[in-house]
Amino acid sequence: MNMKIAFVGKGGSGKTTLSSLFVRHLAATGAPVVAIDADINQHLGAALGLDEAEAAALPALGDHLPLIKEYLRGTNPRIASAETMIKTTPPGEGSRLLRVREDNPVYDACAREVELDGGAVRLMVTGPFTDADLGVACYHSKTGAVELFLNHLVDGPEEYVVVDMTAGSDSFASGLFTRFDMTFLVAEPTRKGVSVHRQYREYARDFGVVLRVVGNKVQGRDDVDFLRAETGDDLLVTVGHSDWVRAMEKGRPPRFEFLEDANRRALRTLQVAADATYELRDWHRYTRQMAHFHLKNATAWGNERTGADLAAQIDPGFVLGEDVTATA
Ligand SMILES: Nc1ncnc2c1ncn2[C@@H]1O[C@H](COP(=O)(O)OP(=O)(O)OP(=O)(O)O)[C@@H](O)[C@H]1O
Ligand SMILES: [Mg+2]
Repeated sequence: MNMKIAFVGKGGSGKTTLSSLFVRHLAATGAPVVAIDADINQHLGAALGLDEAEAAALPALGDHLPLIKEYLRGTNPRIASAETMIKTTPPGEGSRLLRVREDNPVYDACAREVELDGGAVRLMVTGPFTDADLGVACYHSKTGAVELFLNHLVDGPEEYVVVDMTAGSDSFASGLFTRFDMTFLVAEPTRKGVSVHRQYREYARDFGVVLRVVGNKVQGRDDVDFLRAETGDDLLVTVGHSDWVRAMEKGRPPRFEFLEDANRRALRTLQVAADATYELRDWHRYTRQMAHFHLKNATAWGNERTGADLAAQIDPGFVLGEDVTATA
């Protein structure tokens, strides 16, 4: 199955840890994976085993927005220039689309191969967030590159895009949170841990976002009961403390096959749940939602910012999809 999967949750809940474990799990199955670090604290590279120098040398998506926009715009006549392309500008006839497996200038500039047990994955990072990035919708938003990437991606069978992401107002305003087949909300068994779930659930419901809770740092029956009481049927699985993770954090990663059995089973559960959403996929709805959020952002700030009527960028006859030739 091809899947776009987000890990969200409050700071420190374990988004990065679980994203990285899931990426390692997928890589071990031999599946092609693009891993994207869009978290405030950029730690996914380290969690995938890069040392400090390697992680620091990763190119930042945020630094390559002009290149990304220029490439994706292609010959789309509705997008006059890269300057008028905002993070929600949808693809249309003439746009260049992206695939998980191909080589393209976006990967050349922004992705790096990371060797894991079982296979290599592509890693892309937004780059560190500044205070300005955390505000409201913003032309230079770091996650804008991720949104453009996802909105132009036609993922084929047996491919995965895994995004380590902050559950912030930015992703709600831009529509980024609707770009996933599955959203895993990582929650510790604490009041703060589950509070993000309540907010996220409201947004998710309105947009048909599939949301499941992954309990983390769960120590016993009482923790599970608490998460069940607070998050109900959304609770998918729980993960306990992992000595494997601790060893990895000490810079001594054991081989992935030595991950604790219970945690390995949890990762399989995540994959099964993610794969099962494939049937719910609806490219028409996916494309409609792009237009919805694009219009919202155009009126809120984009038109003024670019001096153009961004509504005209929407190609009414275009539907993104695996068989994109059917959209002509
Ligand atoms: N299941 C686990 N077993 C052992 N350690 C864990 C586990 N989950 C998380 N941790 C540890 O907890 C800390 C926070 O986890 P992590 O960095 O993954 O959270 P995060 O949600 O990405 O945080 P941030 O908001 O800072 O990006 C890390 O030191 C991580 O190693
Ligand atoms: Mg993190």
